Amino acid sequence: MFGRTTLFFLLFLWTQDFVRSLRLVHLHVPSQTREGRKAFLSCQYDLQGHTLYNVKWYKDGHEFYRYVPKNDPPVYYFPMVGVNIDIDRSTSNTVALVNLSHESRGNYSCEVNGAAPRFDTVSGHKYLDMEQTIFTRGNSH
Ligand SMILES: *[C@@H]1O[C@H](CO)[C@@H](O)[C@H](O)[C@H]1NC(C)=O
Ligand SMILES: *[C@@H]1O[C@H](CO)[C@@H](O)[C@H](O)[C@H]1NC(C)=O
Repeated sequence: MFGRTTLFFLLFLWTQDFVRSLRLVHLHVPSQTREGRKAFLSCQYDLQGHTLYNVKWYKDGHEFYRYVPKNDPPVYYFPMVGVNIDIDRSTSNTVALVNLSHESRGNYSCEVNGAAPRFDTVSGHKYLDMEQTIFTRGNSH
């Protein structure tokens, strides 16, 4: 009925389906923080047997951080106002932001990309907001 090639092709499709998809387990971005503080952004993912190609972080759609495990050093970052990265505390799962300012507010997203042959991609996003700093005038006489 089926030719040998068709059988091999079906078998190939079946084994491809058998590989589970990359999964984003948890994305943490503090919803409210204050100027001058630090913020740890974290992106937990389950590779499910895939090889990690890279992890990219974006703020309002612009990439500011990239982790590529096969590069040396594995971290690239792109300067952006309000996004001051403490590289020594940033990894494949976390990005440490320091010296937060009003410009740090925004929509942060983490994108995880798997390597060949499937090139799976998974991503999530969260909003980081800044508490209003209310300056009160001293009432001293
Ligand atoms: C936040 O960023 C993600 C990824 O870039 C995008 O899909 C989403 O629409 C954005 N959300 C808002 C509220 O801008
Ligand atoms: C954060 O601010 C401090 C004090 O102004 C400065 O020394 C430090 O280089 C800044 N760090 C970054 C990553 O911008």
